[in-house]
Amino acid sequence: MARKRVAILISGRGSNMVALIKAAKAKNYPAEIVLVISNRPEAKGLELAQAEGIPTAVIDHKAFSSREEFDAAIDRELKTAKIDIVCLAGFMRVLTDCFVERWRGRMLNIHPSLLPAFKGTDTHRHALLAKAETHGATVHFVVPELDSGPIVMQAEVPVLPDDTEEKLAARVLKVEHRIYPAALKLLASGKIRIDGDRVVAI
Ligand code: GRF
Repeated sequence: MARKRVAILISGRGSNMVALIKAAKAKNYPAEIVLVISNRPEAKGLELAQAEGIPTAVIDHKAFSSREEFDAAIDRELKTAKIDIVCLAGFMRVLTDCFVERWRGRMLNIHPSLLPAFKGTDTHRHALLAKAETHGATVHFVVPELDSGPIVMQAEVPVLPDDTEEKLAARVLKVEHRIYPAALKLLASGKIRIDGDRVVAI
């Protein structure tokens, strides 16, 4: 089976992007990373992608007068590169419903919490404030409602008594780097698909 063509959308550091790029270098991995798009020209991840030999594009949201126009520009870039699957990896822009619907079932996101707990930002701080005993990360299909799509994979980590936000974030990030490539592998190999608000195994 032909490997699926994947684009990764980033806004910053790009450590999940690097984890995906490295995993996709394995000979039997069912996807290849063919494009990285950042909405921020200064995103650190751009240099990391270039160092891995992956083509990059900057589509700066500030250059567009509406979300619709920004999303249309991203969509054009994805079409030109014949992208099959989009992975959001620390991409900090809310996409329009129209864009999300167009990519439904073909777009994944990683979120640093055990969804449905702690949607939104500052998840590690919220987990500590809530005195959660466990925390973790989730890979899910993207749907219009934020951080709410059908869950593909989760990994749990303990919250330890002397945890700080930074310590907890580092523990979660480690498992993010494990589950994102594993989840993409499932989708790209055709082993799962989205069915309404569920993920079904094929
Ligand atoms: C990760 O914690 C991811 O779960 C969240 O944003 C962060 C991005 O980190 N969506 P990086 O850019 O992948 O290093």
